[in-house]
Amino acid sequence: MSVPAQVTVAVVTGCSSGIGESLALAFAARGITVVATARRVESLAHLTKKHDNIIAMPLELGDLSNLEQFRDAVAEKTGGRVDILVNNAGTHYASTAMDLEIAEAEKLFAVNVFAVMRLCQLFLPLLRKSLRGRIVQIGSVTRDVPVAWQCVYNASKAALSQYTKTLRLVSVSSSLNVMAYRGLIVLLLGGAAVGDRGDRGRHRLCP
Ligand SMILES: NC(=O)c1ccc[n+]([C@@H]2O[C@H](COP(=O)([O-])OP(=O)(O)OC[C@H]3O[C@@H](n4cnc5c(N)ncnc54)[C@H](OP(=O)(O)O)[C@@H]3O)[C@@H](O)[C@H]2O)c1
Repeated sequence: MSVPAQVTVAVVTGCSSGIGESLALAFAARGITVVATARRVESLAHLTKKHDNIIAMPLELGDLSNLEQFRDAVAEKTGGRVDILVNNAGTHYASTAMDLEIAEAEKLFAVNVFAVMRLCQLFLPLLRKSLRGRIVQIGSVTRDVPVAWQCVYNASKAALSQYTKTLRLVSVSSSLNVMAYRGLIVLLLGGAAVGDRGDRGRHRLCP
């Protein structure tokens, strides 16, 4: 299968609920072909029922060894084209800083940080072929605001933010656009959001 050259292709992780679900629906309604993921593909049925330009694919982000296979499966479905990668999926772990379990912190970092790094690495060659390539990271205000009982989550979003700023440096000389958004703001504005670039201006998540 391949998607016509003029159609934008977006990969959005974590679409079974919340921000990912809203983004997938908003993108599809604008004619964008969306590869939507969740751990259980059945949890995406309500999206594929609504739009035939949403392709549901299972993805467990906690297992980094899955991700290359996922990229290959996406490339096969889209004819090797991806214009937008939205790293939206995220997980939580509630604990005080004193009581946290390192094994749980590692699991959270695998999903919120390391899987994002790996997906960026794997999809960069496809995104660089696009004239409108974008990586969109769904961050959180907790990267700056230390919310109690969420120290691991807060730390993961701070790490994601700094990783994204650094990734942006390597994209300056190419047509690739790298951006990060605070999650709640995306949820409220649905597709248009306040980004974290110096200008703090409004950016659209899709062309
Ligand atoms: N909602 C907010 O107010 C808010 C505020 C700040 C930041 N954020 C950020 O925004 C993003 C989305 O948040 P949300 O509130 O919309 O979340 P949500 O409704 O809980 O949805 C999370 C999504 O991530 C997926 N996911 C979770 N763990 C996964 C794993 N191990 N492997 C693959 N997929 C996994 C879930 O899919 P499954 O069906 O597989 O569970 C689900 O589709 C997150 O990065 C979050 O940190 C949200």
